[in-house]
Amino acid sequence: MTAREIKSGINWVGAIDWDRRMFDELIPLPNGTTYNAYLVKGSDKTALIDTVDSTKESELMNSLKQLGINKIDYVIANHAEQDHSGTIPVILDTYPDAKVVTNEKCKKFLIDLLLLPEDKFIVVKDNDEISLGDKRLKFIITPWVHWPETMVTYLVEDKILFSCDFLGSHLATSSLYAVEGENLLESAKRYYAEIMMPFKVSIKKNLEKISQLNIEMIAPSHGPIYKNPEFIINAYKEWVDDKVKNEVVIPYVSMHGTTERMINYFIDILVGKGITVKPFNLTKTDIGELAMALVDAATVIIGTPMVLSGAHPQAVYAAYLANALRPKTKFVSIIGSYGWGGKFIDQLKGMLGNLKVELLEPVVVKGYPRKDDFKALERLADEILKKHKALQL
Ligand code: FEO
Repeated sequence: MTAREIKSGINWVGAIDWDRRMFDELIPLPNGTTYNAYLVKGSDKTALIDTVDSTKESELMNSLKQLGINKIDYVIANHAEQDHSGTIPVILDTYPDAKVVTNEKCKKFLIDLLLLPEDKFIVVKDNDEISLGDKRLKFIITPWVHWPETMVTYLVEDKILFSCDFLGSHLATSSLYAVEGENLLESAKRYYAEIMMPFKVSIKKNLEKISQLNIEMIAPSHGPIYKNPEFIINAYKEWVDDKVKNEVVIPYVSMHGTTERMINYFIDILVGKGITVKPFNLTKTDIGELAMALVDAATVIIGTPMVLSGAHPQAVYAAYLANALRPKTKFVSIIGSYGWGGKFIDQLKGMLGNLKVELLEPVVVKGYPRKDDFKALERLADEILKKHKALQL
């Protein structure tokens, strides 16, 4: 990909990864991603803001060559994760006078992860600035988006916030600028759900922190650039807010159709009560879809049969994931079935310690569900409706 000018003296020099389908060998990326790096030329100095994943090193280096860059003074490292820092060693080899500008914590990570020499760093603190001549870069420490060392860089004169992971989206697109709509919102929400949601308290503080800035453009390190910052800031404000929606998310698995029969019956009752239901058959679902559904839902119901001596491993995985992602869910319950014994309620309950949830009476049946079991499902649905109404959903 060639360099693209954003404003006079400011160029996108990143890379588009059209084919990447997995991040951290865990997170599905149905729409690929981008690694955005930005070159800012001031009247005296030149800064490169973040780099790219090392697999895309040649694209960054070609862009710099195309722009005729023979000197870089500063490499700003907003975040130490390798998809943004991975090409720093090559930049330092190519531009030996360049210094890495970052905060103390990020410096330590970069030394550990990339074996960079200590004398290559300039350490900055919250609100510090460096001058490029006619342009100033201001650094704002925004920890835990999703690592502890993260910061963002504000280009004061041009009012551009280089936010790195924060406010980004996993979306490979040839459009440099955000095209607002469902596709972009879904990519940004998926990204938030998969990596940011566990840190929503910190994200909220960081949103407040950047609200002090006069931002005309947000240039993240994944996905397109926002010329309308409010689009993504307002979406984040909604996601981190404590308010939940009148929704029930049902991750479930069924071995011989018994649990599925109960889940299907339960879905019909909930829908009849005007509750939005999002079922996920765990043998088929993309966990990113499940993560996105967890962002807003008031209630989560895990459906599982007994297998071996506990919950089905797919249900265990869903419980583990929900616990790790720490959604704002208020109510949880379990629907399941068994043949001759087992204790999966305590097992699953014990796995949800991070969630501040009320456990509603589970419905677990021996064998195929009978009339009383369907009645128990109806009672659970009534209880959910009552709880949601009490929250004015
Ligand atoms: Fe895009 Fe946390 O790296």
